[in-house]
Amino acid sequence: MKGLPKCADGLVTGRRATSPVHCEVMKEIDVGPTVPEGYPSELEAAVVLDDGATVTFRPILPEDGAEIARAYAEADADTLFHRFFTAAPNIGEKQIHYLSEVDYKRRLALVALDEDGHGVGIARYESLTDATRAEVAVVVHSEWRRRGIATELLGRLEDPARRQGITELIAVYLPENRAVARVFELLGYSSPRLADGLARVEKRIA
Ligand SMILES: CC(C)(COP(=O)(O)OP(=O)(O)OC[C@H]1O[C@@H](n2cnc3c(N)ncnc32)[C@H](O)[C@@H]1OP(=O)(O)O)[C@@H](O)C(=O)NCCC(=O)NCCS
Repeated sequence: MKGLPKCADGLVTGRRATSPVHCEVMKEIDVGPTVPEGYPSELEAAVVLDDGATVTFRPILPEDGAEIARAYAEADADTLFHRFFTAAPNIGEKQIHYLSEVDYKRRLALVALDEDGHGVGIARYESLTDATRAEVAVVVHSEWRRRGIATELLGRLEDPARRQGITELIAVYLPENRAVARVFELLGYSSPRLADGLARVEKRIA
């Protein structure tokens, strides 16, 4: 654990030094009586942000679909545009099902929850046709931004991706999206390359 930031109580974050977050704390995480096969409970973690709020990170569950649907229904056009490259994405029942039901191997999503269990962010990887490569995406609730949550979510996808034999993560985003550009920079992704009106970055993880 040498080199990792220390928390006031002596706990170590367990995260890379570039991570803006904070202290991992012990917390009982209640995911209900049944979890899908392959649910990687070792990815559950409670983290204290610099401002003292505790955020829980855990793999997505099928029942998160309702909350995802509500979050996207309430999201502002800018958020939708930056996440889906259109201000009016078609997020119907089928899409919600797709987003919330993953195999935890080729497709994995992590959610960030506030202290009341409400979703405040989500990040995912999806393997490409070449299964050694996966595309990542992230969105954080507008009231929870600039607190390190996107960086933390995306950082937490790397170990499980590596364990699935994924060696490279890629991301595509709108070139004017300075926020996510900074997140990828902090996480050690490549400098962006522009193609077809989009910025593209990648990171070797193995
Ligand atoms: C992009 C997004 C996910 C960032 O989430 P976030 O939780 O606010 O990001 P973080 O708090 O981890 O920010 C990490 C870094 O980016 C910086 N940053 C965040 N928002 C920024 C902004 N609007 N402009 C400039 N820098 C920004 C932070 O200051 C921080 O850098 P620092 O440590 O040097 O201060 C969020 O703005 C979002 O959901 N946007 C809409 C959806 C989207 O664009 N998704 C990306 C598609 S792949």
